Amino acid sequence: MNAPYWILSSEGESYEPLTEDLSTDYLIIGGGLVGITTLYLLTKAGLKASLIDATRIGYGTSGRNTGKATAQHGYIYSRIEKNYGFEKAKQYYTINAKAMQFIEDVSKEYGIDSQFKKLPAYLFTQDEDYVDKLKKEFDLYQRMGIDSSFEKEIPVPLRVRCALKMNNQAQFHPKRFLDALAKQAVKQGGKIYEKTRVVDFQPGKECIISIENGKKIAAKKVIIASHYPCYDGKGFYFARLKPERSYIVGVELDSFPEAHMINIEQPAISLRYIPEEKVLMVSGEAHKVGHQDEDHYQKLKDLAKDIFNTDAVKYQWSAQDYISHDYVPYVGVINDDLKNVFVATGFRKWGLTNSIASAMVISNLIMDNGSEYEDLFTHLRVKDFLSFNFLKENADVAVQLLGGKLQMGKPDLPEEKETGVKVNINGKRCGYYRDDEDNIHIVDTTCTHMGCEVKWNSQEKSWDCPCHGSRFNYTGHVLEGPAELHLNSYKEPKNTINPQIS
Ligand code: FES
Repeated sequence: MNAPYWILSSEGESYEPLTEDLSTDYLIIGGGLVGITTLYLLTKAGLKASLIDATRIGYGTSGRNTGKATAQHGYIYSRIEKNYGFEKAKQYYTINAKAMQFIEDVSKEYGIDSQFKKLPAYLFTQDEDYVDKLKKEFDLYQRMGIDSSFEKEIPVPLRVRCALKMNNQAQFHPKRFLDALAKQAVKQGGKIYEKTRVVDFQPGKECIISIENGKKIAAKKVIIASHYPCYDGKGFYFARLKPERSYIVGVELDSFPEAHMINIEQPAISLRYIPEEKVLMVSGEAHKVGHQDEDHYQKLKDLAKDIFNTDAVKYQWSAQDYISHDYVPYVGVINDDLKNVFVATGFRKWGLTNSIASAMVISNLIMDNGSEYEDLFTHLRVKDFLSFNFLKENADVAVQLLGGKLQMGKPDLPEEKETGVKVNINGKRCGYYRDDEDNIHIVDTTCTHMGCEVKWNSQEKSWDCPCHGSRFNYTGHVLEGPAELHLNSYKEPKNTINPQIS
């Protein structure tokens, strides 16, 4: 059941893996919305570009979200104004509004059945402590000229203190959109290779990228669109991004107002209806990866039952997001010494417009040698480093790194099936899992990114790293980076650690 509606309802094309060495002007790593949109924009301009994806295009967070296309990203504008000034806040709105327009225009131009629909977005609170924040954000909306209103109610049976309504926002089918855009990019001469995982990255005038099957790619410019950068390039992204998981349940519901909504406080309540399917998506329960192992789906099902009196669950899935410490994405060159490597990451949970905005910015940097949004998204901003969030998250990484090494595994192998347990075998701490057919899988639990100890995630039957969010299935295969190398089994040598920093 843990498959997203978006992926189930858009099969898309399959693309062959790369089986020989490749030389290209532009290489895009990652086939989510950033990567595919960049491929589309570069090839539309007649440039020679190729894209590789470790699994399948659109199967990461681009196919596992709520399908909201909006420039209302929590109370982001007050935050940006406080750190970087009014003009930067306005720029953030402008580029996200342009991204929304891009989705609408491209859907029309190629006749994509992307379920694109315009509707208002609501940001509400049920907590008196947040009323002033919403008032402040509304004041900023007005100064920025955003079509919006301050409301006392929202059109669902939830008692709220107040809400901010942003008009002319949208929703769409992200995977159908991505699949169609990929097809168009290929028509324009772009190349896509799926099941092509990067295992090593050597920067240079010409970057050399090694893939799992031993083949090499030489590229003059590389766009790292792998969600969490698969290569750090001394940009210290590992210290600047917090990995979070969140959950979505889709419940049957006959009707719902034409709007989507989210609250400002925690725990988050996000609501988005799929009229074509008569399903309401209820999402939230976000937590740092590897930090909570609870039945998050059940909590969302209880919430749906409480508010809408429905318990007919049709879908459930989870997603991973990365959050910068000042809540603004990083888009542009990976660092100033590597002007031919670009990165886009840290979209918080607002990646649908932010990813398209990133693709626009990167394409402009490549084709026009600059972008008016370069400073807004630069990795050179210091407010993220000088923040409480930066200190808090990096202190936590240190605790996880050291604390994990002190843990002892259980001395006996458990009988239970389909549960991951840390065990001690001949003095070696291992991750043990017995599958439903009694096959036993034992892996080295040292994360191959920077060596933290992975933890069991019972909801998704995976080993998750609490430091930077890498995830591995119970056989040790990478599900989410930054780790590029799989966890070795008990019989193999110790895991190889490859942080891919320099
Ligand atoms: Fe960085 Fe595991 S993800 S150590």
